[in-house]
Amino acid sequence: MAGMTDRVQCFPPRCVWVNGPIIVGAGPSGLAVAACLKEHGVPFVILERSDCIASLWQKRTYDRLKLHLPKQFCQLPKFPFPDDFPEYPTKKQFIDYLESYAQHFQIRPRFNQSVQSARFDETCGLWMVRTVGSGTAAASRSHEVEYISRWLVVATGENAEKVVPELVGLGEFGGDVMHVCDYKSGEAYRGKRALVVGCGNSGMEICLDLCDYGAFPAMVVRDSVHVLPREVLGKSTFELAALLMNWLPLWLVDKTLLVLARLVLGNVEKYGLRRPSTGPVELKNTEGRTPVLDVGALGKIRSGDIKVVPGIKRFSPGKVELVDGRILHIDSVILATGYRSNVPQWLQGCDFFSKDGFPKTPFPNGWKGQCGLYTVGFTRRGLSGVSSDAVRIADDIGSMWKEELKLARRPIACHGRCISQI
Ligand SMILES: Cc1cc2nc3c(=O)[nH]c(=O)nc-3n(C[C@H](O)[C@H](O)[C@H](O)COP(=O)(O)OP(=O)(O)OC[C@H]3O[C@@H](n4cnc5c(N)ncnc54)[C@H](O)[C@@H]3O)c2cc1C
Ligand SMILES: NC(=O)c1ccc[n+]([C@@H]2O[C@H](COP(=O)([O-])OP(=O)(O)OC[C@H]3O[C@@H](n4cnc5c(N)ncnc54)[C@H](OP(=O)(O)O)[C@@H]3O)[C@@H](O)[C@H]2O)c1
Repeated sequence: MAGMTDRVQCFPPRCVWVNGPIIVGAGPSGLAVAACLKEHGVPFVILERSDCIASLWQKRTYDRLKLHLPKQFCQLPKFPFPDDFPEYPTKKQFIDYLESYAQHFQIRPRFNQSVQSARFDETCGLWMVRTVGSGTAAASRSHEVEYISRWLVVATGENAEKVVPELVGLGEFGGDVMHVCDYKSGEAYRGKRALVVGCGNSGMEICLDLCDYGAFPAMVVRDSVHVLPREVLGKSTFELAALLMNWLPLWLVDKTLLVLARLVLGNVEKYGLRRPSTGPVELKNTEGRTPVLDVGALGKIRSGDIKVVPGIKRFSPGKVELVDGRILHIDSVILATGYRSNVPQWLQGCDFFSKDGFPKTPFPNGWKGQCGLYTVGFTRRGLSGVSSDAVRIADDIGSMWKEELKLARRPIACHGRCISQI
């Protein structure tokens, strides 16, 4: 945000004209768009509800986390990972990289700015984005600002909010219950019996972590799940799938992956990990269900250290009853039940997003909507999808920006309201 100065303060909510786009979210996606815009000389403002960049990675992930795709698929545009990074960088390395990224491109988000609403004003042809302060100070919390711009970039992520399902009797359970976004390590669970609800990448790896700390995890698998090896013959499964997609139809890529998974992992169904009837890549693309890339949990399932159990019927004090009638005595519950997008909560009057908070237009064309609306990081392809979106968005806005520079600057007025400019 080069040359940022608030010049005029008006009636609450304060109105601020943003020269260039407003980016909502300072995760990898928001940073990537910002860096690419810098290269085009386009100014911008990033609004971030948290007090740091990459808050998902810094505040809502567990300690042992590593990137599960090889590093070349996870770096952001125009600034590669350091050469000495391992194939699968740790969470700390990834955060350090993102900090250096923001510093390198001099990206300074506006922190503690939680976007409550964004709507396109047809009369002015402008986006009106309203924030409230989300800091701890009461003054900051009550502070409302309306940012106004030609362009809005949605970068709030596929994992903006935790999913906490309604589970019968959980209120009476009495032991500790947390969502995996608050889990750091198994240290507090030594010797305890923990029920991990969910068998995605989080659920599986938390179970592994609990084992390493001497806890006794049982993992709820209510339906089916694709478990794939992280690597096949030294090559990452993700990379292999990406390569195969260049030559083979999707169904054949899926078949090949399943044959390889069977060769490397054996028959996982006998451990209660039933495979979905749709293949792993097709399921990811159509329903957003990510296959589990095994980083060791499967070995603990085979050895019986992680117990696989079916769906939950109800909780009662100190216990859970499963759908097969079994009763388990447990000390803790960890909900590894996933995340969701929060876009429908704040983006108003726009049918570009569906109810689940993802663009209706599928990849690779979901990055651009109408009236100066853009989205980055909603491709269901993790960090590898972020980069391609970011480059396209910046190129698009950059070319309009250059055209605008040729024209005289328009006077800034909207519904006769006085606005400051940044
Ligand atoms: C445990 C875990 C591990 C993962 N590991 C990998 C991996 O190894 N490889 C991979 O490719 N992907 C992984 N992912 C997927 C992950 O979503 C991406 O890596 C990446 O974080 C996406 O970046 P993003 O900027 O789109 O979203 P986020 O990182 O979620 O950033 C979005 C930002 O928007 C902010 N925000 C949200 N709502 C608002 C609002 N209303 N107002 C203002 N700010 C707002 C948030 O605070 C956040 O800082 C993982 C996800 C999880 C949960
Ligand atoms: N880098 C890494 O190693 C790493 C680690 C963790 C996560 N991630 C990524 O982060 C994203 C989120 O992963 P995630 O594992 O947290 O979430 P997820 O993939 O959405 O998995 C959620 C799990 O919770 C289950 N679930 C939901 N509600 C349930 C209920 N009421 N009862 C029983 N089970 C229930 C789901 O079962 P159903 O399938 O039956 O709905 C599913 O198994 C993914 O993209 C993932 O790849 C990456």
